[in-house]
Amino acid sequence: MSHLHKTIAGVISLLTASIHLYSQGNPADLVPAPQEYSVSEGVYTIPADGPRFVISKKNVQELPDGLPDFSRKGAYRLEVRRDKVLIRSATEEGIFYAKQTFSQMTDSTGNVVCCTILDYPRFRWRGILVDISRFFLSPEFLKRQMDVMASLKMNVMHIHLTDDGGWRFGAESMSDLISTSAWRLGNSWKEWGNQGYKYATEGNPIATGGYLSEKDMRDLVAYAAERHITLVPEVDFPGHSDPVLITYPNLRCLNPDGTPRMETHELCLGNPETYAFVKKLIDALVDIFPSQYIHIGGDEANTAPWEACPRCQAVMQREGLKNGKELQNYFEHIVVDYVKSKGRKAIGWNESVEEDAPKDLTMTAWNGTAIGPKIAASGRDVVMSPNTKYYLDYVQDAPMKEQSPMGSYLPIDSVYTYEPLEGVADQDTCHVLGVQGNLWTEHVDSPSRAEYLLYPRALAVAEVGWSSADRNLSDFRRRAQLFCSNKLKEYTYFDLSEEIGERPKFFTPVQHLAVGAQVKYNKAFCSRFPGSGNSVLADGLLGGWSFETSRWNGFDADMDVTLDLGSSKPIHSVEATFMGNRSVWIAVPESIEVFVSDDGMNFRAAGKSMSEVYEQEASMVYFPIRVNVNEEARYVRVLARKKSGGLSAYMFTDEIIIN
Ligand code: ACM
Ligand code: ZN
Repeated sequence: MSHLHKTIAGVISLLTASIHLYSQGNPADLVPAPQEYSVSEGVYTIPADGPRFVISKKNVQELPDGLPDFSRKGAYRLEVRRDKVLIRSATEEGIFYAKQTFSQMTDSTGNVVCCTILDYPRFRWRGILVDISRFFLSPEFLKRQMDVMASLKMNVMHIHLTDDGGWRFGAESMSDLISTSAWRLGNSWKEWGNQGYKYATEGNPIATGGYLSEKDMRDLVAYAAERHITLVPEVDFPGHSDPVLITYPNLRCLNPDGTPRMETHELCLGNPETYAFVKKLIDALVDIFPSQYIHIGGDEANTAPWEACPRCQAVMQREGLKNGKELQNYFEHIVVDYVKSKGRKAIGWNESVEEDAPKDLTMTAWNGTAIGPKIAASGRDVVMSPNTKYYLDYVQDAPMKEQSPMGSYLPIDSVYTYEPLEGVADQDTCHVLGVQGNLWTEHVDSPSRAEYLLYPRALAVAEVGWSSADRNLSDFRRRAQLFCSNKLKEYTYFDLSEEIGERPKFFTPVQHLAVGAQVKYNKAFCSRFPGSGNSVLADGLLGGWSFETSRWNGFDADMDVTLDLGSSKPIHSVEATFMGNRSVWIAVPESIEVFVSDDGMNFRAAGKSMSEVYEQEASMVYFPIRVNVNEEARYVRVLARKKSGGLSAYMFTDEIIIN
């Protein structure tokens, strides 16, 4: 089918939709959008005893040349005629997807518009991660989401089974861990924190939690397989390992004096028992999960305990390893080889993209959007799951509207407009397996909250994973709303029609005396958060809800800048808005001091403001701090003092407004 043909079909279907013949039931309404379709006259009315599928298990003829094997494997042709429904596909998977399409097109009266659809997936990995460690979500919950995933033609559920939040991997050989750390005191992360992050045993009246039993997991594997979904299990180590350390204290690193190190989340990589434990864990995973991929975690490990531990030091010396990173790399080679010896492939978080990391370790790229292309360029396979685009625990609307906002602002538009091949060289695109949205659950305290975060943003991940790269945001939003109201009636979801959107100040430039002023940084800003560069604080442009954009400038020490107004001017106020975001350790400054100068060398104090009392629990709040001055000067130095304490690693501001 030509592109023109598709466009004409689109116009016809729009006309059809506009006269409200069908409340749904049109290929123009599908999520994910099919690769090609055309609409013909008439409808097929589903008989009382169900649709009549005429299935031909043969290769689809009209597929474009050069399609990769996995696309051919998932391909189908669906032809809805007035009297029957023809499905053509060489595989059970393709037939399954054809039926999903048909089911999405069935309207409330049981009619399906006559049409022909030719369809196949763009990427082979179309995933959702569910973190059941930080908040336990039951097998029933996971099955409910698999039903939606199937409708969206998603095919990977990555289950984050273990982390500091609790041990959920209930293989029979892991019963010690279940009894120590599958329950905890309090329900939400915050309540748990109030109880000192203590694990509990089953039956404790204020404990919550649970785990997937071996039977649960085998049952979930079967349920997933019926929907052409693979469950990829993750056990996260050597970091994120509190449950293991509580259960087996001997797997802790040692302090230099030989006593066990208590302040660590990492397994000791100098203890042979660690390697034995990890192998036993992989044996159990492989036994239960048939997935080709086993996820071995590997993220956010702190190397400090290893670098101070006599046992780890001994291994580093023996193996000629220079530092903790190299020790982790050594460990990962052993784990990857072990997974391989079981006939499986290891996948891990992107921390391991060092040159000498295992070549056959597939990676989930999560640290921003730039790391994925680097992994592909290194010759490794990669799943794109950038936190800035695909972390579905981030807030999807204006933060003041959202319950426990955290992380960053991630509206559905940002999820949908992310292009996984951007920055990937042509010869490396074969290494991009696909995409995955991650539902982390530190800030989830109920199954309905988890669904609210998933939908409709998971629809955007699904469509990026399946459909052509030629995307139309406003049409997608229309289809996503239809999908939610038709298919997610029994689910909790965020209603796009009520979306407030980006911070209004983002859209309105401000005029003030310092716009265009030269900004001198007396202390460097944090290199990770330069904003748009040295003019960001005096460009008249205010930031949005998210700190991770070019409008915000981040500081990991005091902010100390001098603005040159070009000539001496009367100055009445200096104001800057600082972000508070506890979930990512951003806090407002303790105070702002203003100094002025006529020559740029001799400064005099011009005013000071203490920041207002800051609610330490708050995330994504925005505090304007104003210093009134009464001066005439050319140079203005602004010093924002960073708060001391663990909650204030960073300060962020978007503009220094001088009037
Ligand atoms: C991660 O977010 N630490 C994978
Ligand atoms: Zn150690």
